Parts: sequence; structure tokens; C-alpha cells
Amino acid sequence: MKVLVTGGAGYIGSHTTLCLLQEGHDVIVLDNLMNSSSESLRRVEEISGRTVDFREVDLLDADAVDAVFAEGAVDAVVHFAGLKAVGESVERPLAYYRNNVVGTLNLVDSMEKAGVRRLVFSSSATVYGASEHVPLIEKSPMDATNPYGRTKEQIEDILTDLGAADPSWSIALLRYFNPVGAHESGRIGEDPRGVPNNLLPFVAQVAVGRRDKVMVFGNDYPTPDGTGVRDYIHVMDLAAGHLAALRFLARATGTFRWNLGTGRGSSVLEVIEAFSTAAGRQIPYEFTERRPGDAAVSYADASAALAELGWSARRGLAEMCTDHWRWQQANPYGYQHEPSF
Ligand code: UD1
Repeated sequence: MKVLVTGGAGYIGSHTTLCLLQEGHDVIVLDNLMNSSSESLRRVEEISGRTVDFREVDLLDADAVDAVFAEGAVDAVVHFAGLKAVGESVERPLAYYRNNVVGTLNLVDSMEKAGVRRLVFSSSATVYGASEHVPLIEKSPMDATNPYGRTKEQIEDILTDLGAADPSWSIALLRYFNPVGAHESGRIGEDPRGVPNNLLPFVAQVAVGRRDKVMVFGNDYPTPDGTGVRDYIHVMDLAAGHLAALRFLARATGTFRWNLGTGRGSSVLEVIEAFSTAAGRQIPYEFTERRPGDAAVSYADASAALAELGWSARRGLAEMCTDHWRWQQANPYGYQHEPSF
């Protein structure tokens, strides 16, 4: 199968591209390299021994997207490209709506013109907002609390409407919980620009000596140790979820939504301890105020993905931390050679 992957140079995109190549699929990557590096794809080629057809294309350039599809022969699309920093989305909402929503409209328009109607979309558990009804099931109402989350919600609505209007579409909306870890080679991994917003990359940068200590956002939540609980999922398990969704869509039409999580929650302190064990050194931390908008607890009911896709996450927190650390230790500044802070 020939799969077009938008945002394929990014964190989850590069791991999924690798898995697609290793399963024998051909991959075209579209990426504007705004928050990613083509070095990730060079390394994907190195690990897989295969070639990626990379195009530096921005989804806002509708003609360029059309031109790629006009070449023909794309069977399915996996759509990762988008902006994903919650805080930035509050400051620059129009950039988020334009990039994420308009970018998706352009993509889907091009797909329609080219007769490609199989799409896996990178959604997020963020669509559930700060819901306290855990585990979260796919039927839980969408209630995003920030512009980033609302772009995911709006795109889900747009794609659902499209699937209802034209039943020949096959669409999977994958709601990721908290992706962490890296490929076991340590050659590809998460490479955030600037100060990481998310817990694992921050902890990893403390472990490698780029930052002094982890600030733990709140220790007065109604959880066993008072810190926030999340469903961390290994990025390779997540990548496998995309392949399972593509297999499903090859024999079904309609719009489907699945949580991709482990179904297990871990607290911030549990993550810091697990990472300390993986890195062989105690990660220093300090408690500070809660981060506005954070839920106390979020974890998936991932039983629908198991029942319908035959997929479940296999790797636990220790393996997530070991793999994340291997990547961070070998690449202390990510894909660049120079410090970026
Ligand atoms: C965040 C986003 C979410 C997005 C997801 C993946 C917010 C409010 N939510 O989710 O929309 O889909 O990332 O990109 O930003 N924590 C610390 N110290 C830190 C960083 C995090 O204590 O330096 C805590 C948080 O309070 C939370 C947990 O660690 O309890 C995980 O945080 P994070 O990795 O940012 O993920 P989410 O908040 O779940």
C-alpha cells in the first residue's frame, strides 16, 4: 500500500513512518519542517534500510498538496501535521485554527479530487477536556478547554460530517493519551523546540543535565500521592495502533473513533521515579502550583480498540522510560548538535 503521511518528520509521525516501511508499505511524507527536522527521516531510512519519499510541503499551500495527490497512487493518508502546544494556542488562536483546521480542509479537498477516501487522523484525549469521569470512553462528550483542543474537536466534527455526507469514506479518529518513549534504537525520538511543555521530555532534559529540576504542577490533587495521573503510552505502541487502524479501514467504510492508551494511570511522582531508575540517577523535583486547565486524572478505556482493531498497548512505564532515556542520552540536544535554550 502507498501511504501518505502528513507531519511524518515529527515525533509520532516518524515512528509511524518507520513501522509502515518495516511492514512493506511505501511512504510519502509531507512536512513543512516548522517543528520538526528532516534528520528524523534520514534516520528512519537508516533503521529501515528503505527510502522515504519526502516532500517539504505546507498543508496551507493547497496547490502543492493537490500536485502531490495528482501524481496518483496514494491508497491512504495518515494525518499528523498540526500545531500542538496548548499555551501557545491560547496566545495565537488564529495560527492554530488556520494551521490545523484549514490545513485539514485543504488535505481532505485534495483527497476528494484524487479519489482517496481512507484517512487516519491524529486526534487527542484533549478533546475530553477536564472530564473527571475515568476511564474515558469514546462516547464521553467532547469538551476541549483551549484553542488547540478545540481544533482537534472541530476537525473530528468536520470529518464526521464528511463521512456522513459521503459513505464511501473510511475515517479513523485516534485519540491519543500521553505519548512518550522512543524507538528502541535510540536513533529517533521526541525533539521539542525550546522549553518542553510536557512532562516526559522535561524530565529527560533534567536527567541529561540540560535543566536543573522538574517543577511538579500541584501535589494536592485527589490522587494517591497528590500529583496528576495520566495514561502514558509508548510511541511504538501508538505507531502500531495506526497500522491496525489502516488495516481496519481497508475493509470498512464509515467514521470510527478509538482511544489509544494503556488503560493505566501513572502519577507525576511515579513517572519521576521510573525515569530515575531508567537513568540510574535521582531526578530532582520541586512542588509548585497547579497548572491551570489540568485535570487531576485522565486515563483511557481502550477496550474498543482491542475489540475492534485487535490492538492493545504492550509496553509498560519502565520500558517507556528506558527507551526515552536511551534516545535522550545519545542525543542530548535532539537532532541538532547545538544547544537550543
Ligand atoms: C498536555 C496537554 C494536552 C496535550 C498533551 C500532549 C495541557 C493542559 N494539556 O496534556 O492538551 O494533548 O499534553 O501534547 O497542556 N507536569 C508537571 N510538570 C511539568 C509538566 C507536566 O508536573 O513540567 C504534570 C502535569 O500537571 C500533568 C502531567 O505532568 O499532571 C502530564 O503533563 P503533560 O505531559 O503536559 O500532559 P497533559 O497535561 O496530560
